[in-house]
Amino acid sequence: MEYEQPLFFQVMRYAQEADRDVIDMVSGDPDWNPPPGIADGLQEYATSGSDRFQYSPSEGLLELREEIAAREGVAVENVVVTNGAGEANYLAMAAALERDTGSEVLLTDPVYPYYPAKVGLLGGESTYVPVAADGGLDPEAVRERASEETCLLVANSPNNPTGAVYDCETMEGLLTIAEEYDALLLSDEVYSEFDFSNTFASALSIDSAHRVVTNSVSKSMAITGFRVGYGIFPEELVERAKTRHMLVNVAGSRPAQHAVCRAFRETDREYYAANRRMLAERVETFTEELDRAGAAVMQPEGGFYVLARFPDFPGTMGNAKRLIDEVGVAGMPGEAFGTTREEWLRFALVTPEAEEAARRLAAFFE
Ligand SMILES: Cc1ncc(COP(=O)(O)O)c(C=O)c1O
Repeated sequence: MEYEQPLFFQVMRYAQEADRDVIDMVSGDPDWNPPPGIADGLQEYATSGSDRFQYSPSEGLLELREEIAAREGVAVENVVVTNGAGEANYLAMAAALERDTGSEVLLTDPVYPYYPAKVGLLGGESTYVPVAADGGLDPEAVRERASEETCLLVANSPNNPTGAVYDCETMEGLLTIAEEYDALLLSDEVYSEFDFSNTFASALSIDSAHRVVTNSVSKSMAITGFRVGYGIFPEELVERAKTRHMLVNVAGSRPAQHAVCRAFRETDREYYAANRRMLAERVETFTEELDRAGAAVMQPEGGFYVLARFPDFPGTMGNAKRLIDEVGVAGMPGEAFGTTREEWLRFALVTPEAEEAARRLAAFFE
């Protein structure tokens, strides 16, 4: 899993330099509009006076933290606004390792590659738990790998890259193991607004001092460039998380936080529901087309990624480049996500051209 530059950037660069039109199914940047509150919030901020252009409180604007706390049903003191869920995940991992209960972090295979890279950066050791064929995570499989050295379990639901959604029983099982081993459960819920299965359970639905929940508006409000996310930390870890956040960042971006706060207040559920429906339809069209072309497809229960396996065409970097050159579709090689999905390729369905991409792939493999 070790590489200098994330494979993601290598594939993106190769696609950009290609000598033909290429449908980008690599990046996870939503292609739909943010809610209107974002632009309105930015405009309002621009004329609010330069005294408001100074640092925000390091842990985030109070009104934004209050909004998050109310939505998530937690105390405002436990909320730290971060530079996206990416930073919140890093803070949670650091907190787990600093508890001195071990240095082993349990991750799934396949895995979102930034997790093991961050664990490595923080001096921890990653151990992988293979997921089931349908992408599901069996807490018993996690228990088999857990040891006295385990300080953290990382769960991501809806999952990148498998599309699996973990239900309440799974989350309870994971938290029980975390408690048994005096470890933390980090539940990364950035795709929580994209659950097609209606089975998503936030780790917040289970009360425990052993869980950290991270989330962001990067995907849910289609603003990956704003870098607004958050972590919800248990009482005994939240001050440490705030301190590390402050020492690394000083504070987050104030205009972005202001706009997100306004958008939270003004956006109704239909905004999220409409995007979810649009994605579910895209997923259906894309997977049906690939299925007809003889590919094996992991049917996502949520999120916006699809893993597909084509006959005699493993998910290597070489084959990802071939698809760019010969088909005009850029996807991520499965080998970027660990060892259990090396035969697969991952496609991000955040493009209006997803259907055209499916047609191109089908024509190539038929
Ligand atoms: C599982 C997962 N966690 C975190 C992130 C990063 O999110 P953010 O933009 O909020 O930092 C991503 C981005 O693709 C992701 O897929």
